[in-house]
Amino acid sequence: MKLKVLVVAGDGIGPEVTNEAVRVLRSVAEMGGHHFEFREELIGGIAIKKAGSPLPSATLDAALESDAVLLGAVGGNEFNSLPPHKRPEAGLLRLRQALGGFANLRPSFAWPALAQNSPLKAEVVTGTDIIFVRELLGGLYFGEPRAWDKQAGAAWNTMRYTRDEVARVARIAFELASSRRKKLTSVDKANVLEVSQLWRATVTEIASHYPNVTLEHQYVDACAMHLMNTPRNFDVVLTENLFGDILSDEAAVITGSLGMLPSATIGGAVNLYEPVHGSAPDIAGKGIANPLGAILTAAMVLRHSAQLEQDAEAVETAVRTVLEQGYRTADLVRGQQGVSTQEMGRQVHEVLSDLIDRRQSMHAV
Ligand code: IPM
Ligand code: MN
Repeated sequence: MKLKVLVVAGDGIGPEVTNEAVRVLRSVAEMGGHHFEFREELIGGIAIKKAGSPLPSATLDAALESDAVLLGAVGGNEFNSLPPHKRPEAGLLRLRQALGGFANLRPSFAWPALAQNSPLKAEVVTGTDIIFVRELLGGLYFGEPRAWDKQAGAAWNTMRYTRDEVARVARIAFELASSRRKKLTSVDKANVLEVSQLWRATVTEIASHYPNVTLEHQYVDACAMHLMNTPRNFDVVLTENLFGDILSDEAAVITGSLGMLPSATIGGAVNLYEPVHGSAPDIAGKGIANPLGAILTAAMVLRHSAQLEQDAEAVETAVRTVLEQGYRTADLVRGQQGVSTQEMGRQVHEVLSDLIDRRQSMHAV
């Protein structure tokens, strides 16, 4: 297996957590005899500082030549007064658009060892296994016109979707639901927005090709509540860009920490992988960030770009194991001192090597 990975670690805790994810990918490659090639480029705030743009052309070119792009995080407080198109985030949004992936998969899984970590009751979160399919290239993030007219004291953004944009992401969500518990919840605001009415009509139309999947529609406000009340009732949740951004952060509460959540964006020319968390400038450089979201993101690289499902599962098992062994970064112990980013990475790496070793010696006999 050959795989060209572009690593764009970005800002804040991005480089720290991405290091641990790359370490995992390297050892899977080494142990399995796969040829993974890594190249690094700039993105976000650090790219603004070093190259004058949040997405330098060298980064964009390298991304388009790769098989997978692994991103850490972008953003920082020093850029807060800049308009959206000049901020670090603009680099990420341009990269998403250029790579073309429109289906952002965001699993939210209640790790048994972390059941006490959620502010929700353990009996509410236990058994939760949701995957959000967030449409990533449409809606308010990209719709035109958009502007802040300071003289007029008014600003506007446009929520726009075409039928085809909804249909293509819906198909991915239905395929995913078919391979899981066969339930799909489509989230919209069809009682208020025309865009949501188009969304609902299109999803309903696509559903006719997937008779084995049960489709339900929820309004986004109700969904926000149901996610906290009865998270186990969800399997695949399909929604538009901004609703998906908000609901996936909310769903982090189920896991106990935003630092646990991975994501993969598929459907375009090159898949893009990024943990759901941001650059966390308050803890950047301290070596205490949780690398598990980034490591689980590496598992998604193995699953969706390298087609190494067994290795993806081995990484997930390694994460489960270190949590069961009691290893916790600071975000998982509320104010108490946790293990360092590197130590957490090292523990995962150790369990993972054992798992792969054992699998290989089983095949050898
Ligand atoms: C995310 C982030 C991004 C988004 C930002 C950094 C542009 O919040 O990936 O969820 O809003 O999509
Ligand atoms: Mn977000």
